[in-house]
Amino acid sequence: MLPAPSSSEAVIAAAANVRADYTVDQGWEGYSAEDHAIWRELFDRQAKLLPGRVVPEFLEGLEFLSVAADGIPDFNRLNELLGKATGWRIVAVPGLVPDEVFFEHLANRRFPATNWIRSRAQLDYLEEPDLFHDVFGHVPLLANPVFADYMQAYGKGGLRASGKGALQYLARLYWYSVEFGLIQTPEGLRIYGAGIVSSKSESIFALESSSPNRILFDLERVMSTRYRIDDFQESYFVIKSFKHLFDSTAQDFAPIYQRLDARADYDPGVLLESDDVLSRGDGSYHR
Ligand SMILES: [Fe+2]
Repeated sequence: MLPAPSSSEAVIAAAANVRADYTVDQGWEGYSAEDHAIWRELFDRQAKLLPGRVVPEFLEGLEFLSVAADGIPDFNRLNELLGKATGWRIVAVPGLVPDEVFFEHLANRRFPATNWIRSRAQLDYLEEPDLFHDVFGHVPLLANPVFADYMQAYGKGGLRASGKGALQYLARLYWYSVEFGLIQTPEGLRIYGAGIVSSKSESIFALESSSPNRILFDLERVMSTRYRIDDFQESYFVIKSFKHLFDSTAQDFAPIYQRLDARADYDPGVLLESDDVLSRGDGSYHR
């Protein structure tokens, strides 16, 4: 899930049985037959689409965790396996949580996952992340040791950034990596971002459309680039490997924040002379 705008705090605090860290019980027994059927439909759709499009580590994670088409997973069962692999666990939350809470969870290897699933009317479009996005999209890669370390480091970076006015820069890093990242593999370009992996249409668009730019990941470039929350991305940033992502971000961000504060942001679709462009988009979709 994404860091939340702090305006959602009141909504969440009003929900029943929410603990101080915004977690709730998943309430797995409470899912209806329709909830499980929606999971199955979404799962089947992506399971057909993703082989050959998603990074192999994602499919390995799905298999290792036995995340499958049979229905919404019980977080307790996932946590036994995930804990053995990387020490991460999933905690249920009723929706978006405040930034500080989100960072605190990640810094302690806890991934906050929404405990409600979308309705049939929302199969293709959601304004807020639901359980399918959070669990199918995010959790499989938490079984990968390098990606798992990256997510924890991101949370720690978030805690350090608090109060420095830098959250927009961190949000862009999360957006262009964890949510909408692409990765190079020996077999070609693959998706790994949860926002793409959990979306039928963007799984195809991100890799196959001639419209978006695909640019080699550069930390400062990513942190200076605004993003679209309401549509497909105009630019995707490509990492060489999860180690490349981890190593590129294993540094003190404070001097970067200072430099970014002193100059203008980039629009989502812009290309710079300094970019290492893997494919130059023709912009046809957003035009
Ligand atoms: Fe997400």
